[in-house]
Amino acid sequence: KRSLSSLTTLNDDELLLQDSVRKLAHAEILPRVRHMDEAEQMDTHIIHQLFQQGLMGIEVSSQYGGSECSFMSVILAIEELAKVDPSVSVMCDVQNTLVCTVFNKYANDAQKETYLPQLTADKVVNPCQVYRPITPLKLGSFCLSEPASGSDAFALQTKATKTDGGYILNGTKMWITNAAEAEIFLVFANLDPSLGYKGITCFIVDKEQGVEIAKKEQKLGIRASSTCVLNLDDVFVRDDQVMGEIGKGYKIAIDILNEGRIGIAAQMIGLAQGAFAASVPYTYQRKQFGKAVGEFQGMQFSFADAHTQIEAAKLLTYNAARLKEEGKPFTKEAAMAKYYSSKIAQAVSGSAIEWAGGTGFTRETGIEKFWRDSKIGAIYEGTTNIQLGTIAKFVQKEYGD
Ligand code: CAA
Ligand code: FAD
Repeated sequence: KRSLSSLTTLNDDELLLQDSVRKLAHAEILPRVRHMDEAEQMDTHIIHQLFQQGLMGIEVSSQYGGSECSFMSVILAIEELAKVDPSVSVMCDVQNTLVCTVFNKYANDAQKETYLPQLTADKVVNPCQVYRPITPLKLGSFCLSEPASGSDAFALQTKATKTDGGYILNGTKMWITNAAEAEIFLVFANLDPSLGYKGITCFIVDKEQGVEIAKKEQKLGIRASSTCVLNLDDVFVRDDQVMGEIGKGYKIAIDILNEGRIGIAAQMIGLAQGAFAASVPYTYQRKQFGKAVGEFQGMQFSFADAHTQIEAAKLLTYNAARLKEEGKPFTKEAAMAKYYSSKIAQAVSGSAIEWAGGTGFTRETGIEKFWRDSKIGAIYEGTTNIQLGTIAKFVQKEYGD
């Protein structure tokens, strides 16, 4: 009854997956959301559930324990999870769109065989009906940002030095999602700073090789999602832990981020819908001046405006996802989807608090949490200005001389 989408472009497999994630989110995640937010801790039961439902390697081939579904399925899963908890959503997003995608696109066969089964499935019971029991299951992290390089990501200072049989890594990574729970880290380091960003190389690092969690951040929102500072102090990795080509790490990073940004857009449209659904029904119950507050035209126009913004953001996001699936250019569309979805997520969740009056301001309803969680959309995987800069480059290409 409360579906906000009038889109009819999802196929049967995608609708099935969407439905199963929705059920999982309501049965397993919803009862734990407030506690996880207040404890600033992800519940391990949820991590296991995502593995067991095949949601940690949605696009990965069944040969490696993945669910072998479409990119749109990943987007739908992230969206559905964010309707209930944007923290769980980003954990799943990073595992799929950043970590597994790097392995899918750039790892050699031996690396895929070693790492993908650990990153993907336990017992898959998703619509693709693939069964493959595998242990142990591991979360991954994508480690690009550093204390002195956020937007200017290619100015990273983590250093790789060649040694017998491998490389020694030294440096500090900052803001790393999933890092408190992760055991596999994709680390971007510069092997030859004289080449500038063309010295950046991507390495696969196992936690036990010496990744030290130096600090877990305390945040405004997505508090159950861990965000950490990592120290790499003379960490030795073998030659076979180089991901892709030497010196092509920058290309891997931005190639993956271009599509990862569609994932964050999906998180933000899910969040906006979660906030809308948490607030609007209350307004049809709450009576003032002798009638439900949701019946005042001032309120109804505000709902209609938010509803339209959500639909527009959804169309941008799904369109970018379909373009990517079809192998068409999608960088501009992904930047637009992330930019616009994070903007409307903030606006809609802010309005949702006001629609519910004082009740919306309390922690009990969970509406204020959506608003706190929405702020991150304009920051990670490229800030709003970075997205606007990307869109502006296309505008200039099209309209400049
Ligand atoms: N797509 C493809 N290639 C791109 C690109 C894009 N969007 N933007 C830049 N490039 C390429 C250029 O073509 C160039 O490559 P070549 O030399 O091979 O032609 C190279 O990158 C450098 O180009 P610029 O000098 O124009 O780029 P820059 O150094 O000024 O900035 C950037 C590049 C670091 C990618 C920057 O635009 C950017 O996106 N910064 C944001 C960083 C980011 O998104 N970090 C996310 C970390 S992960 C994360 O946040 C996860 C999470 O929260 C959950
Ligand atoms: P800065 O780059 O210092 O930006 C500060 C301000 O300056 C912003 O408003 C920005 O838009 C503006 N600005 C910067 N450059 C320009 C410009 N050229 N033009 C106009 N304005 C500009 N990184 C990872 O590698 N892996 C992760 O898993 C990860 N997870 C994260 C999780 C969280 C909760 C957070 C907060 C961050 C995470 N990040 C991660 C890092 C994230 O990608 C960076 O925070 C982001 O790219 C911005 O970098 P910064 O924080 O250094 O801000």
